[in-house]
Order: sequence, then structure tokens, then C-alpha cells
Amino acid sequence: MKRVLITGVAGMIGSHLLDYLIEKEYEIIGIDNFSFGKIENIRSNLGKDNFKFYRIDVGDYETLKILSKDVDVIVHLAAVKKISESDSSMATLKVNVNGTENIFEAARMWGCKVIFASTSDVYGMSPDIPFCEDGDLLLGPSMIKRWSYAVSKLYCEQMAFAYYKDCSVPVVILRYFGGFSPRSSFSWSGGHIPIFVDAILNDKEVIIHGDGKQTRSMAYVDDLIEGTFLAIENEKAVGEVFNLGNDEEMSIIDTALLIHKIASTGKELKLKYIKMEDIFGKYKDILRRRPDLTKAQNLLGYETKTSMEDAIRKIVECRRKEIENSG
Ligand SMILES: NC(=O)c1ccc[n+]([C@@H]2O[C@H](COP(=O)([O-])OP(=O)(O)OC[C@H]3O[C@@H](n4cnc5c(N)ncnc54)[C@H](O)[C@@H]3O)[C@@H](O)[C@H]2O)c1
Repeated sequence: MKRVLITGVAGMIGSHLLDYLIEKEYEIIGIDNFSFGKIENIRSNLGKDNFKFYRIDVGDYETLKILSKDVDVIVHLAAVKKISESDSSMATLKVNVNGTENIFEAARMWGCKVIFASTSDVYGMSPDIPFCEDGDLLLGPSMIKRWSYAVSKLYCEQMAFAYYKDCSVPVVILRYFGGFSPRSSFSWSGGHIPIFVDAILNDKEVIIHGDGKQTRSMAYVDDLIEGTFLAIENEKAVGEVFNLGNDEEMSIIDTALLIHKIASTGKELKLKYIKMEDIFGKYKDILRRRPDLTKAQNLLGYETKTSMEDAIRKIVECRRKEIENSG
């Protein structure tokens, strides 16, 4: 049986990973500062013998050091995700970089394996579709705050390899591509699918950035969790970076149409187009984002099991129940 420390355990991916590993009778130590995560996401596991939760910040190195003693694997998910131009980039840079360094230091001290959550954002505007792990990365200018997230994660990927090569810390880097579940934030940081679902079920306008022809490859959280589990278990993954997600590509506009069809509310779909510049300023939205999953398939035995249509069906059903129960 493995002892796993999950940072960001009350977040979307962290809480689903917790459910999955608890079911497999792993012993879990979870930490979160609830800056974005919710207690509801982990409540069903509180009090179980194989789960201990600590409300701490990943900046608190002294406590992290104590908690990671006797741990086999640290899955480092805690982060401040993408921000808009009106937000400060300070937390993204500091939490992501300093928190990750604390994790690697603790892992170095006790000899733990680290699974580091990176992101498809590091590919930036690369024209090389599908994105391959060893491909070049094309990031935008540092005056644009939106890039702080990709830059912070890319810096941490370099840090992961430095700890692997110089200090023999076993590391695996996972570049998640657009995951979602009913536990996603139904605000901008949770991505377009939860926002569209909410708008359509509440008969509100669906806001489309630009012409809506830009594509995304979105994955249901269960697939990301399976991939993460394979990375925890498989020693061949050590020292490697993997794309994880779903390579099904769908435009933003087609996604809105599909959600509307699945939700079958009987109401008309109300689309509202907003110019990219009005939302993002000088930031250029990524026009296509699709992972090459060959490496994860060959080395980890990863496969995407949930289609976009099935994933949307699940989130629509859950959100509909929540809306019915709240009103
Ligand atoms: N969800 C996705 O589609 C996606 C895509 C690419 C990468 N990722 C990466 O995967 C990881 C998990 O993503 P998620 O979608 O579950 O995000 P999330 O925001 O739902 O979860 C992150 C968790 O980290 C916690 N946290 C933030 N700062 C903290 C701090 N200083 N100390 C302790 N806890 C802190 C938050 O409270 C939250 O519970 C992140 O590192 C993210 O960058 C996610």
C-alpha cells in the first residue's frame, strides 16, 4: 500500500484523485488552503481511517517537511491557475514557483517521487498541432499577465528536471489538457464548458470569445485521474513529461451547440459574440489546442475513455440536479 500526499486536494482534480485512491485503499494525506478548493469536495472522505486532511499553504515549508516524511509519492496539484488581465499575477508566480520548490525540497529530503501537474498552456501559440512533449513552445510577451501561468509552470518543469538530474528526485511531469467535471468552478477559471452548461440551463446568453471557431480538446476528469494513477504506479514514467487529456478537438461554437442539444431545455440558444480584444486586451487567444497522446499511450498504457458527448452529458445532468435542488 502506498502513502500519497496530494496538494490542492480540495480542488477539482485533487478531490477526484482522492476519491479514486481512497477507493483503492491508499493512505492519503491531503493539503489545501481553500483559496479555490471547497470542503464539500472532500467532505465524504473526512473521518476515514486512510485520509488525513491539513488546511495548510504550500508556502509553509516547515509543515510540508513534517507531513511528507514517510510518504512514497507527492502529487503536486496546488496552484493558482490562469488569470485575466485585470487580476494580479503575483499569486500565480509566487504560489506556483515557491510552492513547487518547497515540494521538491521536501521530496529531496525524504526521497519521495513527485508527480507535478503542468498544463497545455506551456505550448502557448505553437503552430505544431498536435502538441508533442518534445516540441517547441511559443509563449507571448511578458507584459501580458495571462502568460504568467504558462511561464510559472514551465519554470517548474525545468525545476523538476533539475531535481531529477542533480538530486535524484524521481519526477513525472503531467501536462493536463482542459479537464472538467461537475466540481469545476462554474466561473471563468473552470473553462468554457461549465460556464456554457450553466448559461444554457439557466436560459442565459452564452458568451463566445471572437468568432468561436477556435478549438479546444477537453477531457472528462476521470481520464485525467486514470492517467495520473498510471504515472504514480509506473516506474517507467520517471524523468518523463506526458500530455494527458482527450485528443477529440471541438470548436467553441460547436461545443455550445452540443451542450444545447444535450440539455434540450426547449429554449432557444442565445449566443453573444464578444471581440477578443475586448476581453483579452493584447493577449492572443490560442486558436487550436490538441494533444498528441502517443507517448502516454505507449509508455503508460493511457487511453481516453470518455467522449466529449458523454462528458457533457454527465456535467449537464449534475448541474441540472444542483439547480433544481437550490431552487
Ligand atoms: N483542470 C484543468 O483542466 C487543468 C489543466 C491544466 C493544468 N491543470 C493543473 O492541475 C492542477 C489542479 O487543477 P484543478 O483544475 O484541480 O485546479 P483547482 O483550482 O480546482 O485546484 C487547485 C487547488 O489548489 C489549492 N491551492 C491553491 N493555492 C494553494 C496554496 N498556496 N496552498 C495550498 N493549496 C492551494 C486550491 O485551494 C485548490 O483547491 C493545477 O496545478 C493546475 O495548474 C489543471
